[in-house]
Amino acid sequence: MTVLEAIRKRYSCRAYQDKPVEPEKLDSIFEAARLAPSAKNLQDWRFVAVTDRDKKRRLAEAAGNQMFIADAGVVIAACSSSDHVMRCGQPIGPIDVAIALEHMCLQAAELGLATCWIGSFYPEKVRAVLDIPDDIAVIELMALGYPADQPKKPRREPVEKILCYEKWRF
Ligand SMILES: Cc1cc2nc3c(=O)[nH]c(=O)nc-3n(C[C@H](O)[C@H](O)[C@H](O)COP(=O)(O)O)c2cc1C
Repeated sequence: MTVLEAIRKRYSCRAYQDKPVEPEKLDSIFEAARLAPSAKNLQDWRFVAVTDRDKKRRLAEAAGNQMFIADAGVVIAACSSSDHVMRCGQPIGPIDVAIALEHMCLQAAELGLATCWIGSFYPEKVRAVLDIPDDIAVIELMALGYPADQPKKPRREPVEKILCYEKWRF
């Protein structure tokens, strides 16, 4: 599978089979995260992988009752302790974590697994479920597992709408 094929295969999966993800597949998915680029190579990301049914249910509740999350084989809480801001004014924590998470999504797609980014959650509730300290930002959750639904055709803008060359022409 080429990278572009994996990108095309990835979609937001909101129904999962009750089937665990094999440890070796998880290893390769976290290897994809580990190899992601990060500002100043700080690698200031930390991932809590949750397979315990009760904890997954509580995480789904912490995500505004998006209960499909509880059915995923693994729920990942992606965290950062970085409060660095780049010269451009952008924070590195969420950016670096996002890159690592998308690496994971693409590796998951390559392995026949599916994922869903979860940004709609209450961080304090997630913190409480997973004993995450107050000085660690919970950036994102991610559901990961074997899909029980079918990918939908992605709705995306045409490239002409999002790209111009040489100067701003939007
Ligand atoms: C940062 C981020 C946060 C998201 N949060 C949620 C979420 O809380 N719940 C959900 O069902 N989907 C969530 N999504 C998935 C988006 O809705 C989805 O990526 C978008 O609709 C495009 O669909 P596709 O991923 O299937 O191509 C999130 C996606 C991103 C990138």
